[in-house]
Amino acid sequence: MSCRSNASGACGLAGILLAVLVAAPWGMPKASASGASADTKEMAAESSDIQHGGAVYGTYCAVCHQMDGRGLGGTLAGDFVGDSSRLAKSDAELLEVIRDGRIGTVGAMPPWSQSLSEQEMVDVLAFVRATFQAELAD
Ligand code: HEC
Repeated sequence: MSCRSNASGACGLAGILLAVLVAAPWGMPKASASGASADTKEMAAESSDIQHGGAVYGTYCAVCHQMDGRGLGGTLAGDFVGDSSRLAKSDAELLEVIRDGRIGTVGAMPPWSQSLSEQEMVDVLAFVRATFQAELAD
């Protein structure tokens, strides 16, 4: 919003992520299909949880995509902010890449279906869109 200069990188993002990290401790049980029955209290799987997506992003994705979503200018990973073609794709297309990975033009995107639940992949994509796509709309 008021954060026009990208020179400093993350702008308000670091603060958001910090809040998310505090709000979503890792100890939280994964809402996976196995035996979890109905007592997964707050994790209703009907919509995306952007906050939890932010925690997932910080843990699994930021090492390559970086907290500012630029993947070191697209050298480490897909640059969500600078390469608008990335997030212009549909949710279905992007979820497929997150699930199964892809050898792309700037390196390999690892598959996540073994480490993340379907809900977590939906959440992290929602976070990526909410955080980095918003920066595109100026
Ligand atoms: C080991 C580094 C690495 C990690 C970790 C990583 N990615 Fe990626 N990601 C990449 C690379 C490299 C690409 C670009 C692939 C290409 O050129 O098409 C990419 C591309 C993407 C794309 C864009 C796909 C497209 O079609 O343009 C999305 C979305 C994405 N990653 C999401 C994630 C999410 C979510 C996570 C965390 C769960 C994650 N990535 C973790 C390396 C990584």
